[in-house]
Amino acid sequence: MQETQIIREPIAYEKVPTRIFSNSEEASKAVANEIAELIKTKQKAGQKAVLGLATGSSPKTVYAELIRMHKEEGLSFKNVISFNLDEYYPMQPDAIQSYWRFMKEQLFDHVDIEPGNFYIPDGTVSPSMLAQHCQDYEKKIKEAGGLDFQLLGIGGNGHIGFNEPGSLENTKTRLMMLDQSTRVAAKSDFGGELTKVPKKAITLGVAKILQAKRIVLLAWGERKAPMICNAVEGTVSAQNPSSYLQKHANALFVIDEAAASGLKRMKTPWLVEDVKWTNSMTKKAVTGLSIGLGKSVLKLTNEDYNDNGLSDLLASHGNAYDINIDIFNQLQRTITGWPGGKPDADDTHRPERALPKKKKCLIFSPHPDDDIISMGGTFQRLVDQGHDVHVAYQTSGNIAVSDEEAHRFLEFVVDYNSGFNVENKETLETYKEAIDYLNNKKDSELDSPTVRLVKGIIRKGEAKATCRLVGIPPENVHFLDMPFYETGRVQKNPLGKADVKIVSALIEELKPHQIYAAGDLADPHGTHKVCLDAIFESLKELRHKNYMKDCWVWLYRGAWAEWDIHEIEMAVPMSPHQVMQKRMGIFKHQSQKDGVVFQGADSREFWQRAEERNQATAKLYNDLGLAEYEAMEAFVRYHF
Ligand code: F6R
Repeated sequence: MQETQIIREPIAYEKVPTRIFSNSEEASKAVANEIAELIKTKQKAGQKAVLGLATGSSPKTVYAELIRMHKEEGLSFKNVISFNLDEYYPMQPDAIQSYWRFMKEQLFDHVDIEPGNFYIPDGTVSPSMLAQHCQDYEKKIKEAGGLDFQLLGIGGNGHIGFNEPGSLENTKTRLMMLDQSTRVAAKSDFGGELTKVPKKAITLGVAKILQAKRIVLLAWGERKAPMICNAVEGTVSAQNPSSYLQKHANALFVIDEAAASGLKRMKTPWLVEDVKWTNSMTKKAVTGLSIGLGKSVLKLTNEDYNDNGLSDLLASHGNAYDINIDIFNQLQRTITGWPGGKPDADDTHRPERALPKKKKCLIFSPHPDDDIISMGGTFQRLVDQGHDVHVAYQTSGNIAVSDEEAHRFLEFVVDYNSGFNVENKETLETYKEAIDYLNNKKDSELDSPTVRLVKGIIRKGEAKATCRLVGIPPENVHFLDMPFYETGRVQKNPLGKADVKIVSALIEELKPHQIYAAGDLADPHGTHKVCLDAIFESLKELRHKNYMKDCWVWLYRGAWAEWDIHEIEMAVPMSPHQVMQKRMGIFKHQSQKDGVVFQGADSREFWQRAEERNQATAKLYNDLGLAEYEAMEAFVRYHF
């Protein structure tokens, strides 16, 4: 592994070696390097390299780097034998969701591995042959000489392979009932319909995984943080199968900063090593101390600092009161009911500048509902306070509409047309065909262009309804339909020049004073990240333009998580009435209610998540000793 890419070394009380990288791309390169070195070493010795491979979103970047090495550096896979961890059961190999198809698309079709040299559990084997199939799979691994290297992801519930919580250390390769949380997380791969997610999977057993000579577990994003923390710092338990890696002599967790966010060295680094007391670090320590002790910031004493490992911070300031008042004031100054700046107010103590009084604000929303979910209260305030607010929906969001929802709308079109004797027979036929298509759609098929169009129109209509409710005119609503998104499947294309061009064109046209964008880190390979990268790229291109000098960029978080309290630079309070108004705005997105496609492992609906999150932020401020609000939306300023 390339040590230079590692931001911190492993530390003593972590029970399994853990390396934290600033992002998943860097981390994946390091892991791909290690795999490539293994392949090459074995090649030189005239031996096979036996790899255990995983599917899921986490290893994709590793596979992409291996493909690059094959194409650009001549890395050969001729001596590789691979065994995949798992496969849904039952599952046809050509189905979109099959791990067979995943591995072919993500790796095997792009490298020179011999066709007979990769093995994936067979999702078509008959129930009576399953036990034999599992035994044979283990036997084949043994005959190949055992796994030299096992790559793992980790489930939100701690599973490795599909060894769900409760799996014992000695479990063999077997058929496993999938946890409800695993099935819910997989729902988006199955058109959003939980009933279509298989209930079972064949998985390599924990025992076989632990027999690998080397194990590397990958985890990206905040969603993985609780289980990572438990596996790295907690005790070994069947409730978190990834914790078994503590018992392995040569295992490594390779994680990004977001997945590491629960670890002590990230949460309370001053307890682990010498830190530089920057303002941000001080804020983190003081707010953490306050929350940890259940005392407001202004009540913290010298003893509180000394007793909790913050004596050097205390010594550098002289006394608790000075630190407390400084941090309290900083927190206070983040709160504003004027997200577009308070007219005629003194700017020194406010997050936004007062001038110009009427600002042009551009809200970028990756999907058609992120604006209202993540910053609906602020959106409403900006409009109410007279700013010229525009919203740009970056993607069509069409894959997040269920087939059933599309069916309902298609039927409406057909019935409407016949009810009102609309003549255009050709159009009618197209919609009837689309209904037929949905009725007969197989698991291996993507949506037809008509179905995708209909799904996109449904989401467009919902976004327009939200904008009407908030009160912006139709000409301020922009649908960008960024092309990277239009694959018809969960897997999107990488960001392209055409995407950035569309974003730049709108910024150029509007010349906004404020840009709001989704700075979502929870889903590093998802649409939000690509949408944010497109904005960053565009800002880079446009930064020398005159109007950009007067443009401030505010980042809000996506549906999953909120900024840490020490990071927040603008907190916009909401009254109970405003919370209700925001809820109504979210309700406009009916295709995203009651069984949403991209539910994740969280069973709450989006309006519930948003409300609970905004209320939690308000409570946090109140617990720190600031005024008590009903709810708050939070932002961080991006300096480009
Ligand atoms: C995949 C597998 C699973 C995944 C895990 C994480 O072969 O065995 O354990 O690694 O569910 O999935 P992602 O990486 O999609 O979060």
